[in-house]
Amino acid sequence: MQNITTFVHDALKPYLSKDGCAIDATLGQGHDAVFLAKHVKEVFAFDIQLDAINQAKARAKTMGLTNIHFIRDSHINMAVYVALNIDAIVFNLGYLPGGDKTVTTQTNTTKDAILTALKLIKPGGIVSVVFYPGHPEGKREKTTILPWLTSLEDPLYKVYTYQIINQDKAPQAVLIKKRL
Ligand SMILES: C[S@@+](CC[C@H](N)C(=O)[O-])C[C@H]1O[C@@H](n2cnc3c(N)ncnc32)[C@H](O)[C@@H]1O
Repeated sequence: MQNITTFVHDALKPYLSKDGCAIDATLGQGHDAVFLAKHVKEVFAFDIQLDAINQAKARAKTMGLTNIHFIRDSHINMAVYVALNIDAIVFNLGYLPGGDKTVTTQTNTTKDAILTALKLIKPGGIVSVVFYPGHPEGKREKTTILPWLTSLEDPLYKVYTYQIINQDKAPQAVLIKKRL
């Protein structure tokens, strides 16, 4: 079985193209942004922490990638920076690894940002969300947002999931595909 990051990246690949556009809603250390930048023309990447922006910028520079727009703002404001017709939007929830664990994504703003993301992606596009229920706010995000995603209007959206089902605290990936 694949680890969750590899699973999500592989699931996203068919939706990405060299003339397309993607959003990393939670930049962190930049692993997802770098992956996206290798497969699309432009990436808009959001994080509220300067430390994350700096770490991700350094990673992108090492890889010679110049197509990532680093935006120090909350993903709740992503529609201010990008127009519609985005191919893929990635949420990797939680806190910056090695950083301040109290600075983490928050249930209410995460839900609103996912709602915005569902509007910004083009028909046929995809949103990925990885929940980390191993810490209190991560558990709240999962128990609040997952039921809402489960009830998204079908057939406008198809919602898929990938998880280890016999581990309470294991991360869970959700992929939301918008109808063409
Ligand atoms: C688990 S990390 C993301 C990992 C990252 N995608 C990577 O590939 O390294 C979560 C990040 O979300 C950021 N974050 C928390 N709240 C945010 C918000 N409202 N808007 C944007 N980023 C946020 C944190 O600062 C943290 O860097």
